[in-house]
Amino acid sequence: MFEPTRDDRFSFGLWTVGWQARDPFGDATRPPLDPAESVHKLAELGAWGVTFHDDDLLATEPDRDKAVAAFRRALEATGLVVPMATTNLFTHPVFKDGAFTSNDRDVRRYALRKVMRNLDLAAELGARTYVCWGGREGAETDAAKDVRAALDRFKEALDILCGYVLDKGYDIRFALEPKPNEPRGDILLPTIGHALALIGELEHPEMVGLNPEVGHEQMAGLNFVHGAAQALWHGKLFHLDLNGQHGIKYDQDLVFGHGDVKSAFFLVDLLENGGYDGPRHFDYKPTRTEDIDGVWASAAANMRTYLILKERAAAFRADPEVAEALAASRVDQLAVPTLAPGETYEDLAKDDFDPEEAGRRGYHYARLDQLAVEHLLGAR
Ligand code: GCO
Ligand code: MN
Ligand code: MN
Ligand code: MN
Repeated sequence: MFEPTRDDRFSFGLWTVGWQARDPFGDATRPPLDPAESVHKLAELGAWGVTFHDDDLLATEPDRDKAVAAFRRALEATGLVVPMATTNLFTHPVFKDGAFTSNDRDVRRYALRKVMRNLDLAAELGARTYVCWGGREGAETDAAKDVRAALDRFKEALDILCGYVLDKGYDIRFALEPKPNEPRGDILLPTIGHALALIGELEHPEMVGLNPEVGHEQMAGLNFVHGAAQALWHGKLFHLDLNGQHGIKYDQDLVFGHGDVKSAFFLVDLLENGGYDGPRHFDYKPTRTEDIDGVWASAAANMRTYLILKERAAAFRADPEVAEALAASRVDQLAVPTLAPGETYEDLAKDDFDPEEAGRRGYHYARLDQLAVEHLLGAR
């Protein structure tokens, strides 16, 4: 039980298990990992897919052609797929003021070339989603960035990239990844809502959706389950980054479920029952204290935790007492349109309604919440 299989469609970024655990205060605690070794190990653990930044492939082999060839051999040997790829537009000093929105036009042009080059490889490897995380797009002082001009440039970059994908005939859609801060003091498109609003201004809005990350919304004190549900409602949950975070602080990138586990429970319930059909992608960082055994233990923990929560969510949904509590809370009633078919606002005047009586009705959410907690804790 709780053994991952390919059918679960679990995927991992090469940069997750491959993170050497360098932080602002300390050196790497682990040696670089050969991407081919990561592919083999992830496949052994039951993963289905692997994702990468262009530069991740060069972790142990500086020659790009050789690195790509070795990666391909590992994919062929294991059967792992590449559902998503992305670009490193944040490590090199050239991106210190951003990539698509750097004040330096030469940098913006270089960034687009770097993305287009990796889009070619992503398409060759069969990726259907291309993530844009604008970690360096932002500022530490409001004097430094004309945000309206920066959004013009963000839109310009995405319009150019969509045009490129269309011209090449690639079957690829873009997914924007919001984050409020870190590494920049303030990052553009800080939340799911900001990113959704930008998409509406693009030349090809149908080609651009979201790759929201659990911890990033939680860093902003927001409810990730609500954000993911809204993205789904807009048809924009193209992909997602599962991980863990404890509230408003630096980006922890913990194992999925190792942060706010109750939110993780409701997220799995949403993904499994709410119509999401994309990969279950983990973007976490094995903590700096771990050696290589701890890296693989943490990778396995993400998948096992997801499967446990999936089983818990199914038990919650199947419990007759939960069904009764949901009905008592009138949760199903929200799906009923406020006006009946054929009614107009004029019909509202005909209601015989007593607000005093309705104001006394309880919603019984405490019972419902306790049932969820008991299922989550395995007490039912
Ligand atoms: C973070 C980000 C990154 C991006 C990834 C894709 O933790 O701040 O999630 O991990 O997802 O680099 O570009
Ligand atoms: Mn810090
Ligand atoms: Mn993160
Ligand atoms: Mn991420």
